[in-house]
Amino acid sequence: MISKRIQNMIPSATLEQAAKIAELKNQGIQIIGFNVGEPDYNTPTNIIQKAEEAYHLGLTKYTPAAGMVALREVICQKFRKEYGLDYAPKEVLVSAGAKQSLTNALMAIVDPGDEVIILTPCWVSYLEMVKLAEGVPVLVPLEENDGFRLDVAKIRKNISEKTKAIIINSPNNPTGAVYSKEDLRQLGQMAVEHDFYIISDEIYEFLVYEGEKNVCVAALSPEIKEKTITINGMSKAYAMTGWRIGYAVGPTQIIKGMADYQGNTTTSPNTPAQYASIEALANSQESVEMMRAEFDRRRRYILERINAMKNIHCSIPKGAFYVMPNVSYFYGREYKGLTVNNSLDLANYLLEEAKIAVVTGAAFEAPDNIRISYSNSMENIEKGMDRLEAALSKLK
Ligand SMILES: Cc1ncc(COP(=O)(O)O)c(C=O)c1O
Repeated sequence: MISKRIQNMIPSATLEQAAKIAELKNQGIQIIGFNVGEPDYNTPTNIIQKAEEAYHLGLTKYTPAAGMVALREVICQKFRKEYGLDYAPKEVLVSAGAKQSLTNALMAIVDPGDEVIILTPCWVSYLEMVKLAEGVPVLVPLEENDGFRLDVAKIRKNISEKTKAIIINSPNNPTGAVYSKEDLRQLGQMAVEHDFYIISDEIYEFLVYEGEKNVCVAALSPEIKEKTITINGMSKAYAMTGWRIGYAVGPTQIIKGMADYQGNTTTSPNTPAQYASIEALANSQESVEMMRAEFDRRRRYILERINAMKNIHCSIPKGAFYVMPNVSYFYGREYKGLTVNNSLDLANYLLEEAKIAVVTGAAFEAPDNIRISYSNSMENIEKGMDRLEAALSKLK
């Protein structure tokens, strides 16, 4: 009999949907994928070359559980350069993706029954990770009308004696919201005052638009730094999703706990990918800016198109590569005998009728929205927006 832990786990909705779409594609059906959670670029060549070199030089053995010291040093340099933050290699952990760093962090700090605040809409896996660590997720909804801004007053109302941590994610998946420095400072002060941790998932750090800059919470004061575990990784900034390298920085004792857990569960992260990550972080950042500028062009186009459509509206995201329009107007409407009752129905309808794949907001605790990723070519985005508009206009 399968364990209760796994029985209670909801499989990753986005990965499940990706499998369904792959099946349709296999049948020769041309789907435009707005469901994608990864950059549509290839990993830059200089990064690939470093991994190749590592393979040929026989640098293919285990590394320390927490990752190679040379990579951890480069990560320290990055925090110093970007945020003026000082970390030593012992305060850095390299993992198989940000996802593993997040799991490690929760396993290292959460005891059974501890509460972890999660702001919704949220990325699919946070809830399941907290449950796996035997914590209790406390969901705090942010307001769409407020651009999904970090609502510190609302968070305060949800703090209890059992609050162990809050997970925040700015720039945000799925809303694209970027939290302000002032709101983050207030959250940081609250964490210090009430003695809980901030797990700050900053994986979309460089994908910011309209003059925004990522605020690293840990940089806001030395006291806040002591309460913050920052999570980041190579996936989004360097188009390295399949390489599986992420990292965490934070207080020594917690990082050590995370490394011990990792050591017993997966040993160390992929060795050639660690060499490639040194190259990505330490050398030219031109490709990051190129991708960011192109994502911005697509973001502006998609927003213009969606907000010009009837009966669908979208707050303006300033980060990541997603927009999340509200689709509740279409509930109760139908086409060819098929009624749309919720955002999953709408996502299925769009897949069938328009041959475009979007993700139901239900996967992100946002039942009235769909998530559209603009990690796709401009040509496909144009075609996909035409199809979206035509399909929505048929629902009466
Ligand atoms: C908010 C957020 N955090 C973490 C991750 C996982 O990143 P990684 O590929 O480094 O595990 C993702 C990937 O979609 C994400 O959207």
